[in-house]
Parts: sequence; structure tokens; C-alpha cells
Amino acid sequence: MDPILGDCSLAKLRARTSHKWRTYDPDVLPAFVAEMDFDPAEQIKDAIRAAVAAGDLGYPHKGDLGEAFAYFASGRLGWSPDPDLVYAIPDVMTGITEVIQALVRPSGGVVINPPVYSPFFFRVQLAGRRIVEAPLAVAPDGSYDLDLDALDHALGLPGTGAYLLCNPHNPVGRVWSREQLIAIAELTDRRGVPLLVDEIHAPLVLAGARHVPFHTIDHPAARRAIVFTSASKGWNIPGLKCGIAVAGDREGAAILTQRWDGLLASHLGVHASVAALRGAWPWLDAAVRQIDENARLLAVLLAEHLPGVRYQRPQASFLAWLDCRGLGLGHDPAAKFLTAGRVALSPGEDFGVQGDGFARLNIGTSPDLVTEAVRRMAAAVAGQQAPRG
Ligand SMILES: Cc1ncc(COP(=O)(O)O)c(C=O)c1O
Repeated sequence: MDPILGDCSLAKLRARTSHKWRTYDPDVLPAFVAEMDFDPAEQIKDAIRAAVAAGDLGYPHKGDLGEAFAYFASGRLGWSPDPDLVYAIPDVMTGITEVIQALVRPSGGVVINPPVYSPFFFRVQLAGRRIVEAPLAVAPDGSYDLDLDALDHALGLPGTGAYLLCNPHNPVGRVWSREQLIAIAELTDRRGVPLLVDEIHAPLVLAGARHVPFHTIDHPAARRAIVFTSASKGWNIPGLKCGIAVAGDREGAAILTQRWDGLLASHLGVHASVAALRGAWPWLDAAVRQIDENARLLAVLLAEHLPGVRYQRPQASFLAWLDCRGLGLGHDPAAKFLTAGRVALSPGEDFGVQGDGFARLNIGTSPDLVTEAVRRMAAAVAGQQAPRG
């Protein structure tokens, strides 16, 4: 592993007290929540140390976040957002929820593409809006794609008030093409449905794939869309509580401005995000290389130890969506992996009924821990008790 990422030693990781490391007993290997195991980037640590030393721990001010994000987006994503239209928010899901409340009337529908990140269901419903499913299409080889007919149908249903698109997609790891995004812009425009785009995984696009930022689509609907992203996923700092919302036009900006008091980021998170976006590119490169290597390694390990699992390498990010239906472990294979293998994956059903028989494995770690996760899963399948530790 690149030394910039640390060594992911279990002894050090188990000293962490985050959700990932405190939810299960110490003998369980956690590979569920989307948090990576790498050491933080030095630039982020320096920024936090400097803020603490200066006593700069007050309520947030956006500061240079707009310029820093525009710098990153133009250098890495081929996108030049207006820094004035970049907003600090506490996290992506809170930003999405606030904007949905602004755009969709109570009990109105929000279209999503399951299997998809479980808080999409949870937060929309908690906000008193309805989920409208336009499931992804699945090819015979198990690969996923957008189903534009299903999407158009969902957009046209009475009461549909917004579409929440996930690109890159969690958990299936797809990045959608420019042509697909143009088609989405066209459909939402025709149906008059506002669009929210979650691009939180965009900094982690893997070799061979290309993320197309929605705002680079040449279509009026693209300019009306509100995009949500962050440094928190790419640089692994979700606990610092700073996400980013990017409005495409003055109306989107007005929604975010009006709700500013419900969208206060952590000031430390703003500092850390600016440092990451401006200077921690070598760290990001190392993380992407490692995830890519792990994604390839996982294919080899599964073929050898768990040939009943179907897996397509993700195009982005560190989440592997595993079709475990061939293992005969029932609806919730993650439950079996946990009890019999002492490895915690995310249950597929959390991502919608389409996830029945699936599980999501976090590979944002060392090759050794990916190998250990598969060893424990295989031990669970073989009905053996994995050694504890
Ligand atoms: C697609 C997607 N959106 C949002 C989030 C959560 O982001 P935040 O912690 O900023 O709300 C995640 C976390 O894994 C995610 O995968």
C-alpha cells in the first residue's frame, strides 16, 4: 500500500471509536458502513490542527469552499461551477432532505432508482414524502443500467415532485454516461420534475471510467438541477460534517440561501474540505489506486473461495455489490456472514427489495483486510466458525 494511506493495521483501527468500529463486538471485522480505513491526508490533519490552535471553532462560514470546490471540479472533473453557487451544508443527506421539503409538497412523490443507498428511502419518508420506485434494469449477466422507460413512467405519475438521481450509483457502482444524463434531463424537463443529483462518490471514480458532472450537460434542466457532493466521502472525513450543494441557477441558489439556518455545516469540516479539495490530490490518487487494486483482488478471491457469488467490479468508489443468491443463504446473506463468519457487510435488503439475497462489502481498506473479509465469508458458507480476533 502507498504509505500515504497508512497500513490499515487492525490494532490501530480497533482503537477508532466511530460507528464502523463500535457497532459490533471486537471480534467482528466491520465492512459495512461507507467509511474507509485509510489514515487521513496530512493536509486535512494540518488544517484541523491550525483551526484548533487558532480557536477557530465557531459557527461555520463558507470561506474559500466555493473556490476550492471549483478548483477541484475543474482540475479533476471537467466542470467549472460558479463558486458563488457552491454552498456548505452539514452533509449530503441533510441537504437533499431540505431541498426535497422545499420542492415537493407533503405526501408528494420522490423518484429513486433502487437498489439504492438506504437513506434515500429513510430520509424522504421521514420528511413526509413518498418513495416512487423506478428500479434499475438488470441484464442477464447481472450488470445494472438505468431503465429510462420505468423512469419516465415514474416521473409521470400524479404527485411526483422530484427525482433523486445517484451518480456514481451506490451500491451498484455504475457511472452514468453523458447520453444517459441528457436523456434524463430531457425526461425531467418534459415532465416538469425538478432534479436532485447526488454525486458524493464522484471523486472516487476508478480507472477506465469517467464521471460526467450533471451540470456539464448542455440542457436547461441540467442548469436547474441541484447537485450534492462533498469531500467527506472521497477523503473519508464524514465525521467532520461538511457537505457541498451546488445550485445551477439563481432559483436553486435561492432555495439553499433561504434554508441556510437548517443547513449549518461544521466549521472544522469546512476547513478540512478546503484543504482536501485544494491540496490533498496525491492522497486521493493513492486511495483510488488502492480501491481499484482491491476491486480486482476481490474478483480473484471470490472466484477462488466463493464462486457462487456474482460480482461486477464497480466503476466508482469502494463498495462491492455482491449477488449472493447462489450461496443458498436466503434473503439476508449478511446476517449469516455476521453470525457464522464474524464479518459485517450491509444487508442487501437495506437498498430496497431488489437487494434480496445481496450484500454490500466495503473494500476501502488494505488488501489484507479484503482477503480476511472474504476468508470469513467463505468460512460462514462452509459452516465453519472463523477464528476470532
Ligand atoms: C450515495 C450517497 N449519498 C449520501 C451519502 C451520505 O453522505 P452524508 O454523510 O454527507 O450525508 C452516502 C454515504 O455513503 C452515499 O453513498
